Amino acid sequence: MHHIAIIPGDGIGPEITKAALMILEATGIPFQWEMIPMGESAREEFGTPLPNQSLERIRELKVAMKAPLIVPKGAGSVIVQRDGHQRRYSGVNAAVRAEMGCFANLRPIRSLRGVQSRYTNIDLVVVREITEDVYTGMEHQITEDVAALIKVITRQASERIFRFASDYATRAGRRKITAGHKANNLSLTDGLFLRCGQRVVQEYPGLEFEDLNIDNLCYQLVRNPESFDVLVLPNQYGDIVSDLCAGLVGSLGIAPGGNFGTDVVFFEAVHGAAPDIAGKGIANPVAFILSGAMMLDYLGLAVESNRLFRALEQTLEDPENRTPDIGGRCKTMEFAQKVADILTKDKK
Ligand code: NAI
Repeated sequence: MHHIAIIPGDGIGPEITKAALMILEATGIPFQWEMIPMGESAREEFGTPLPNQSLERIRELKVAMKAPLIVPKGAGSVIVQRDGHQRRYSGVNAAVRAEMGCFANLRPIRSLRGVQSRYTNIDLVVVREITEDVYTGMEHQITEDVAALIKVITRQASERIFRFASDYATRAGRRKITAGHKANNLSLTDGLFLRCGQRVVQEYPGLEFEDLNIDNLCYQLVRNPESFDVLVLPNQYGDIVSDLCAGLVGSLGIAPGGNFGTDVVFFEAVHGAAPDIAGKGIANPVAFILSGAMMLDYLGLAVESNRLFRALEQTLEDPENRTPDIGGRCKTMEFAQKVADILTKDKK
């Protein structure tokens, strides 16, 4: 029995969670789900979007699936009180990642059969550093008219993310690491990140290393995305470029992800809580379902993960089964039911 923490989240979170759990159950793998309150719904009950007992429970269970959490505009920073210390974070999502000790966000970006986009053959991975850069919550009001923040890049975190990406690339049979940075203007911070990448990737003879200024990387991604393999990016560029890459394959609704640390791992889609479509039953659950497939791989269930992937692509091939973000009219749960039916039939 796999005991998994589930954070249903905000906005479309509960809808895509219901869909993803239905499909994961249809694989026949024995799961026990434990719902963990977090986000705006938890704020009502516990007075904070990040109750300590929720964080503690995820640390105990070690594997989680997390739907998106809303970060209120202009008032995003959150404080977590632990072991007599106060920790301030730039937002609730940054806080969960940090509190779980996760340092790497892995986001595979892949063209899917049945999802129209400008490109057809994309298969790249964004590896985003998630502990530092400009999201450490060190933002200050200097005067009423001036605000500033501190960008933090350390050798330790930079080497760790390049090592994580290089190990992953080697395991996955990938060939090239591209580091995105702005070292020409930010010579100390991004310069350090770049130098760490050059040094670490050199230790992996099977891997090629290249680096691009982040603006040029965005340009090249739009012109020729097929030429990229594994992108390694500091926190903020990784955040932004992930959404750009999701656009390349047709929708944010199909881009999954996983957050990795030494103790806890949790899987979440690239997209946010999509308040503009929340409650309408039309959210695309594919990104969260694929995050579930990543979890199966992590749990050593690669055969089931592939089976799930095939059922998903088979369902998407029929235009009737596509949600509005990818040009169809299908509802979230109708889509989930179709995938679940294929998996259940396949099992018999
Ligand atoms: P968003 O990713 O929620 O939405 C951007 C656009 O993509 C919207 O038009 C939305 O409808 C669409 N979209 C996103 N996911 C979709 C899906 N599964 N199916 C169909 N369409 C989908 O980004 P936005 O609007 O900037 O953020 C909304 C809230 O989510 C904010 O509070 C933000 O801070 C939070 N957020 C949370 C994240 C997380 O929990 N990891 C990540 C990104 C944003």
